[in-house]
Amino acid sequence: MERKLTCCLLLISLMVIGITSSGANMIKKPPNTKFHYYSERLRRNLLANTLGLTPPMGWNSWNHFNCNVNETIIKDAADGLVSSGLAQLGYTYVNIDDCWAEKVRDKNGNLVARNTTFPSGIKALADYVHSRGLKLGIYSSAGFFTCSNTMPGSLGYEEQDAKTFASWGIDYLKYDNCYNDGTNPTARYPAMTRALMKAGRPIYYSLCEWGDMHPATWGFRVGNSWRTTGDISDNFDTMMNRADMNNMYADYARPGGWNDPDMLEVGNGGMTKDQYIIHFSLWAMVKSPLLLGCDLTNLTQETLEIIGNKEVIAINQDPLGVQAKKVREDAEIWAGPLSGYRFVALLVNRGTWSTNITAHLEDIGIPPKTKVQVRDLWEHKTLEETATMNLTASLGAYGSKMYLLTPLKEQSS
Ligand code: GLA
Repeated sequence: MERKLTCCLLLISLMVIGITSSGANMIKKPPNTKFHYYSERLRRNLLANTLGLTPPMGWNSWNHFNCNVNETIIKDAADGLVSSGLAQLGYTYVNIDDCWAEKVRDKNGNLVARNTTFPSGIKALADYVHSRGLKLGIYSSAGFFTCSNTMPGSLGYEEQDAKTFASWGIDYLKYDNCYNDGTNPTARYPAMTRALMKAGRPIYYSLCEWGDMHPATWGFRVGNSWRTTGDISDNFDTMMNRADMNNMYADYARPGGWNDPDMLEVGNGGMTKDQYIIHFSLWAMVKSPLLLGCDLTNLTQETLEIIGNKEVIAINQDPLGVQAKKVREDAEIWAGPLSGYRFVALLVNRGTWSTNITAHLEDIGIPPKTKVQVRDLWEHKTLEETATMNLTASLGAYGSKMYLLTPLKEQSS
């Protein structure tokens, strides 16, 4: 009797195993393509707008013009992007920041462009910017007023404003956090996400929540990028501090959703050339949005060389979309992987003294003793020596070296 029972139990367990394993066989494995990977991740998000698969590139009015913005400045910026060749390199967003609207909505509750500074209206401006092959961005706040306190915010008007933006042909919305009602940003920001999704036009959604409630941890479901820090200023210490704060959230960045340590200051005059090179190198490799903040009508050759460095821009736009991290603190090294089993590394001297910095291949994520081809992305030169263990650079005050590293195939002897 006991033997019969054991046999019976064995048979039942075998049948159960059979059923589950044949069931498992029936579940199709997803195809292992990059497209599938991205589309799966996007599908699971509220804001599945397919924008920002690489960090956005363009220009924004705030860092140089603050509140003194008008339609001529915006048109000039669009013209400047085209005539300088920067548009061709990928800088396509022309973003109006704060102060573009009248303080009071019209009788129907619509936002209205400020008559003294934007007399032609935003739709006409969008048409102009589009005619130059570029895209127009605009700004509002998840509060009652924007940060300048000169125009209304969109809190409570999300759907109406999103519709207005879409009807004007807006392509990008920066959404600030001032004059809010004290409710949680995790509620205020998604209200605009839903409104944008309903508005019927793909609009890149940039959350400007300043890192207050760690938007890196929830931003991907809500927007295409999120500020991780307070405002940048045009000086080396603030810029490096923004880079350091942003670094803490590196693992949250990915195609479709980027950490944003604030816009670029290159060309505004507050830092030296070497400091701006560090600024641009870092922003590029940490996959930050590359939004220029200088006056494009007055670009120096030096500024153009920095913001127009194609090899560095290519690091930012690399399809793998992995944010590089600070891998060593003292002898400072930032590094990260790129598509095609390549790597980027930045050796930085933050000080006024000269120093040698050595990066071990392991620091960069490459197995030691691998033969690696090294390209200097600011000298635009491939070094004659291949590295096998480490790379040493001797750096003067605020010096840096940015390398593209390509492990070479082993030659079989
Ligand atoms: C905040 C933002 C800035 C800028 C200003 C405009 O400070 O963080 O980037 O948009 O508002 O008032």
